Amino acid sequence: FDQIRPKVEKHIREVKDFPKKGINFRDIMPLFGDPALVNELCVVIADHIRHTTGQIDSVAGLEARGFLFGPQVAIQLGVPFIPIRKQGKLPGSTINASYIKEYGEDRVEIQEGVIKNGDRVFLIDDLLATGGTLRAAADLVKKAGGQVAEAFVLIELSPLNGRSKLEDVNLTALISYDTA
Ligand code: PRP
Ligand code: MG
Repeated sequence: FDQIRPKVEKHIREVKDFPKKGINFRDIMPLFGDPALVNELCVVIADHIRHTTGQIDSVAGLEARGFLFGPQVAIQLGVPFIPIRKQGKLPGSTINASYIKEYGEDRVEIQEGVIKNGDRVFLIDDLLATGGTLRAAADLVKKAGGQVAEAFVLIELSPLNGRSKLEDVNLTALISYDTA
């Protein structure tokens, strides 16, 4: 990742006081103004999976921003993409896991049957903050009978210590910020 890291970093915009006062928002959307770099990044992630993560059965991405990368990585590897969505968005039978947010509880879901017993699932999202979202996603994969081969985020906000909630997970961050 050493070659691509600075190139991606250049496209991450810092927006102070968004969505509320005191929050220093890291905006990944400018990255999509450079389609060749987005493609390169997804190819590099897929290569990392081939060489380091090892065999995987699927890539699962977290709504919404994990959907920007997950399908592209899955296509590179020729494995299914699994959307992990917020509660109430997926039709049919679902499996869910909940997590605590700043205000109350939230829930993420997958459709039943998309993860088979023993499947090795690669989780992907844009950002790790408090870790609640990724924790719920990892719980969901386990609940469905799978295992998390690796969890990958573009950005980790280290001071929020999300990593401490994911000690049982092989977690990789492309870019880590020392200031939230
Ligand atoms: C953001 C971000 C991660 C999550 C990280 O998503 O994209 O998914 O928060 O926070 P955590 O580590 O504290 O759980 P958000 O729920 O804001 O929505 P979006 O991706 O749908 O825009
Ligand atoms: Mg998100």
